[in-house]
Amino acid sequence: MSGIVDGTVRRNTGRSGDSRLITDLMGLLGAAHVLVDPDLTAGYETDWTGAFTGRATAVARPGSTDEVAAVLRVCAAHGVPVVPQGGNTGLVGGSVPAGAAIGAVVLSLRRLTAIEPVDAAAGLVTAGAGATLADVQAHARAAGLDSGVDLAARDSATLGGIAATNAGGERVLRHGMTRGQVAGLEAVLADGRVVRRLTGLPKDNVGYDLPALFVGSEGTLGVITRVQLRLVGLPSARTTALIALADVTSAVELLARLRAAVGSLDAVELMFDDGIDLVRGHQGLPPPFPDRPADRSRPSRAHNTPYLLVECAGRTDPSDELAAVVETATGVLDVAVAATPTEQARLWAYREGHTAAVNTLGVPVKLDVAVPLTRITAFIDDLRELVPTVARPARLHLWGHLAEANLHVNVTGLDRDDSRGRERLTDAILTRVAADGGGIGAEHGVGRAKMAWAGLSRSPAELAVIAAVKHALDPACLLNPGVLVPPYGIALTPGSPVPTPPPPA
Ligand code: FAD
Ligand code: MLT
Ligand code: ZN
Repeated sequence: MSGIVDGTVRRNTGRSGDSRLITDLMGLLGAAHVLVDPDLTAGYETDWTGAFTGRATAVARPGSTDEVAAVLRVCAAHGVPVVPQGGNTGLVGGSVPAGAAIGAVVLSLRRLTAIEPVDAAAGLVTAGAGATLADVQAHARAAGLDSGVDLAARDSATLGGIAATNAGGERVLRHGMTRGQVAGLEAVLADGRVVRRLTGLPKDNVGYDLPALFVGSEGTLGVITRVQLRLVGLPSARTTALIALADVTSAVELLARLRAAVGSLDAVELMFDDGIDLVRGHQGLPPPFPDRPADRSRPSRAHNTPYLLVECAGRTDPSDELAAVVETATGVLDVAVAATPTEQARLWAYREGHTAAVNTLGVPVKLDVAVPLTRITAFIDDLRELVPTVARPARLHLWGHLAEANLHVNVTGLDRDDSRGRERLTDAILTRVAADGGGIGAEHGVGRAKMAWAGLSRSPAELAVIAAVKHALDPACLLNPGVLVPPYGIALTPGSPVPTPPPPA
């Protein structure tokens, strides 16, 4: 008795079925952990950007893996979809009951916060899916190790959400994406069965790599309840530099030289003058280079000075190694070096403040793309021309992780409700990305926001395999409908197969 018909699910109508479901959930978790009051559920129903929102039938807050399994069994019995949620910092609309998931139960994992002792010899730590990244980092650092995953949302983003999105972040250059950091995990399937692989054995080849399958599945294959994270060495010396450059080509050339000569390279992040201005306005920060006129008298919009935030970390002071490269690089206009944690945090504030500063201008069209570094200069130039021709008024904000060729393309100025305009703009930009052989979803995932464009980055055969895996694990399509995989009855792209529900058993 699934509530899903042609891609839509039942809405929260206050029908007797809903109250029976809520009674059942309260029987499992206690009334305190089943939220139905709109004042209490509101924070779980709208995403971080404000672009995606929808009413939930209830927010269920289980406190253990067994309770997660019980909630999933009850929701399956009622035919009600479930949206797993961690810190709700996701940026593609996957963590809230919007679109095809309106009326779903939001399954908040935030009570699963236990962090087990660090296994220093194996370099592993296992934590509940609801533990925040910041808490896991503090825990690992107390044991002389660190997480290789780091991102600005660390205080709210949970390990479960980070695994579910295969998050990237600021240290991918050194340590890779989250998938490479996850040694094992525990997840609950839509029917309540628990899949657990937490042996921590680096060599363990028995069939498909199931933990890796759940990483990046965006809540569509199972609910992650525990994550076993690989840890990395904790560097004792760190140096950070903010470098103003003549143009993006000089930034890419500097990246190449840094890769070749600086073994302790940890992060190479890109931003521009106008983004730094916006963050400064939002946070009341001083200019990074007070003597540089560029902030106040930028010659034209076409000339928007790029900056690299470069960080090196190791067991010995990496500053000489870094300075040797920067001093001989071409196109360097200005350099600020930070050697203490306080000074370093000041430089990082310009970079990490971008997301929140852009949000103050309205609900952005938020894209997260990857473009080959050989084409990135031309891509950025084209984008600055393309955006005003497709959307007006529009303001383009660009920043990202240069080492991974990952650009965050945000456009403000479009009305939140102008869905046609937002779609047209998204389509124009992502089509341009695909023309360059780029990726339409680099690190944030596909979610609801990019589902319709997945065909630009994956072949029909690949999409069919993704849909087959989804339907094998969640045949009733109860987990996060409308995220990543189209609900039954909807073709993802023209010509791609239309998923249909399996025949009744
Ligand atoms: P949520 O937002 O709650 O959920 C995200 C997705 O995962 C949803 O589809 C949800 O259904 C699913 N999910 C959540 N928990 C579970 C679970 N336990 N089991 C199954 N599915 C689950 N991302 C990057 O990759 N790199 C960055 O540098 C980066 N920086 C950010 C900076 C800011 C300021 C913000 C607001 C976000 C940033 N993000 C970044 C977005 C990023 O996706 C999230 O911060 C993080 O990965 C999501 O964690 P979360 O706990 O908030 O997940
Ligand atoms: C970032 O690197 O700043 C994040 O991925 C967040 C964003 O894109 O807004
Ligand atoms: Zn990012």
